[in-house]
Amino acid sequence: QDPRLHAIKTNIRVVPNFPKPGIMFQDITTLLLDPKAFKDTVDLFVERYKAKNISVVAGIEARGFIFGPPIALAIGAKFVPLRKPKKLPGKVISQEYTLEYGRDCLEMHVGAVEPGERALVVDDLIATGGTLCAAMDLLERVGAEVVECACVIELPELKGRDRLNGKPLYVLVEYLEM
Ligand code: PRP
Ligand code: MG
Repeated sequence: QDPRLHAIKTNIRVVPNFPKPGIMFQDITTLLLDPKAFKDTVDLFVERYKAKNISVVAGIEARGFIFGPPIALAIGAKFVPLRKPKKLPGKVISQEYTLEYGRDCLEMHVGAVEPGERALVVDDLIATGGTLCAAMDLLERVGAEVVECACVIELPELKGRDRLNGKPLYVLVEYLEM
């Protein structure tokens, strides 16, 4: 295992009962306070993707906007934000997805990604996988190929990976509830 992963893991703060009772919130803001651990996080993704011919990094609002852009800059790809509804000013395509309670939606600007582009989807965390599925649907609907999804943290007990229709998922840290 890469020696950088230990400090990345220990700099993620777990906040019990946020935002609701029973949820162990994985707080990456503490990782961002440690410049070495934050840089190592970005570097691990950059090392994995720099020679993979990725033309677009799609980051998911909100926390995919923290990790996606530095990865995109370092690998020479464009960055496309996938946003919550009614935030993007241009023409959009929308994809709904299910949450633990209720539904949400992601939107992408039409024309931001062209058919045949090779895409990397970036977010901070995969829980049930619904968010990543919606992101991949948006990219595939415009004819892009999703090469992989990349997250800092996976909650494996929720089996989100099984929802990704076989698309590869790369994560740095697994959180196992004791
Ligand atoms: C969290 C997290 C992921 C998503 C994962 O975001 O940042 O984006 O949930 O959940 P899933 O795998 O079950 O779909 P959230 O929707 O809370 O919004 P935020 O990033 O804007 O805070
Ligand atoms: Mg999120």
